[in-house]
Amino acid sequence: MRYFLLIFALCTVMVVAIAGKRGSISRKPPIEVFPDMDRQPKLRPQTPNNFFADGKSSRLQVAGTVARDDRYEDAPVNTGKVVGKTNFVDVMPVAVTSQLLARGQQRFNINCSPCHGAQGDGNGITKKIGAMAVVANLHDKRIVTMADGEIFSTITYGKGLMGAYGPNVTVEDRWAITAYLRALQLSRLGTIDDVPEQLRATFKK
Ligand code: HEC
Repeated sequence: MRYFLLIFALCTVMVVAIAGKRGSISRKPPIEVFPDMDRQPKLRPQTPNNFFADGKSSRLQVAGTVARDDRYEDAPVNTGKVVGKTNFVDVMPVAVTSQLLARGQQRFNINCSPCHGAQGDGNGITKKIGAMAVVANLHDKRIVTMADGEIFSTITYGKGLMGAYGPNVTVEDRWAITAYLRALQLSRLGTIDDVPEQLRATFKK
């Protein structure tokens, strides 16, 4: 036991001597386990350096640089929700133009029609070949009365069996698809009152 205590005390002294305080203040640790991590051939930001002609170690951002989180700002256009709330916006926050609708039609036919069908009624190719048994009919009253923001959010995150299209479809295109989907739904909600009076007689009752 005596020897143990002696060896223990010696070890303690050695550890403190090698790894402990060196008596002077330094930012560097006394033992460097991975010196290659500490010493890198790099320029520290905001320090003068003569490598570049202008003498700055940091480079200016390339013109048109967008901060990564610019896209994730809590704005209805990014989230489909009222700022600071969980409520969906009723009306889409981007202007609906014929250009947007044309883009939406094209994107809908690429991204959505395989399952929902070109008419949005849920009879796409995936149903025909038996890959998906039940696909939502986008003309269902529940989906017709859904807020624009919720449609946008459904495209972004998916729902139930439907995968998320946020990673593949840009924010602008998701709103374009939402606008086009509204047009598709409207196309089935027409009544005889929408037809000019002089043409009504040509329709069969
Ligand atoms: C791979 C097949 C598939 C694709 C592609 C697809 N959907 Fe769906 N979608 C589904 C299925 C299946 C459901 C039903 C989900 C459920 O209730 O489980 C659904 C449901 C929906 C709903 C209703 C959600 C709800 O709240 O019930 C909307 C709106 C919708 N899809 C829009 C879209 C749009 C817009 C696109 C194109 C960007 C799209 N979907 C692409 C399969 C798909």
